[in-house]
Amino acid sequence: MENILIIGAAGQIGSELTLALRKIYGNEHVFATDLIKPSKDISKEGPWAILDVLDNKRLVHYVIRHKITQIYHLAAVLSSNAERIPIQAWNINMDGLMNILDLAKEIPEIKKVFWPSSIAVFGPTTPRQNTPQLTITEPSTVYGISKIAGERWCEYYYKNYGIDVRSIRYPGLISYKTEPGGGTTDYAVEIFYEAVRTGKYECFLEKDTYLPMMFMSDAIQATINLMEAKPEKIKVRSSYNLGGVSFSPDDISKEIKKHIPDFEITYNPDFRQQIAESWPESIDDKKAQEDWGCKTTVEIEEMTKLMLEGVKEKLTK
Ligand code: NAD
Ligand code: SER
Repeated sequence: MENILIIGAAGQIGSELTLALRKIYGNEHVFATDLIKPSKDISKEGPWAILDVLDNKRLVHYVIRHKITQIYHLAAVLSSNAERIPIQAWNINMDGLMNILDLAKEIPEIKKVFWPSSIAVFGPTTPRQNTPQLTITEPSTVYGISKIAGERWCEYYYKNYGIDVRSIRYPGLISYKTEPGGGTTDYAVEIFYEAVRTGKYECFLEKDTYLPMMFMSDAIQATINLMEAKPEKIKVRSSYNLGGVSFSPDDISKEIKKHIPDFEITYNPDFRQQIAESWPESIDDKKAQEDWGCKTTVEIEEMTKLMLEGVKEKLTK
């Protein structure tokens, strides 16, 4: 029997991944934890707790008490927030991961660990189109530095201690259930909220800034596929590229105009422009497709429709 611990369950990914895993493993077997209380549908239907990933003592007690067999460690400070508090962000991102890897090393009942990396591992010297799995990784943000260091540690723990740790370099994730937590790709979610609320949006990136993005349902499916694959299928123990769809603020605003013809977008780029320009415009995820079968199913047209419907419903409630 599996007992799954999610750390960062109240966040943009955790709030949807927790529910998806509860459908597979049963509500009582998926333990949602975070620094803040998760949404009602998570806290009412299954176990949850306030838990700081940096509080090693409580973490060990929690894992032993609930006979945890898998950990999804999602807690992190994302790219734009991390630039505001670089040392604190480094400590949270790195110490959190090291606590989890060490826990998996010390407690043999923990069979699998999931930890997300990001397109932020790439930097200004990386080829930006169709960025390959193996390429130059010289990130220029503290977030990216923490993710590339994390990837190296994951591979190290796999090779030296046999820890079955698996990882995906998520592109920017698009969803309406929980708002994003301070990343550079957040414009592509904010734009839908502002389109519905006010009919206009001032974008913090330039019109033609292309970035790889993915609708949340595809990201959740990819995560589950990766975690359910047989260990011998997982050939990359640092982190897998995941492609998604590539679009710019101009592309998405044109899609929104098809639904809200009077929608207006203006551009006022800030420090996040430089971060976006250091990241790939599109990603090659052939390796993930070959090894465990990732697939992008939601393209920009459907994503726009789903986001507008979801945001409208959320704001009406
Ligand atoms: P988020 O900011 O929405 O959620 C993170 C959650 O972690 C928050 O609820 C926060 O309260 C919690 N948290 C922070 N510090 C904690 C601590 N010390 N102990 C316990 N919980 C703590 O982030 P997200 O978008 O859900 O991202 C989850 C993971 O996926 C992160 O590692 C992030 O780097 C990675 N990722 C996200 C995206 C994206 O577009 N959302 C893209 C690439 C990678
Ligand atoms: N969406 C994330 C960010 O912008 C990418 O890791 O920080």
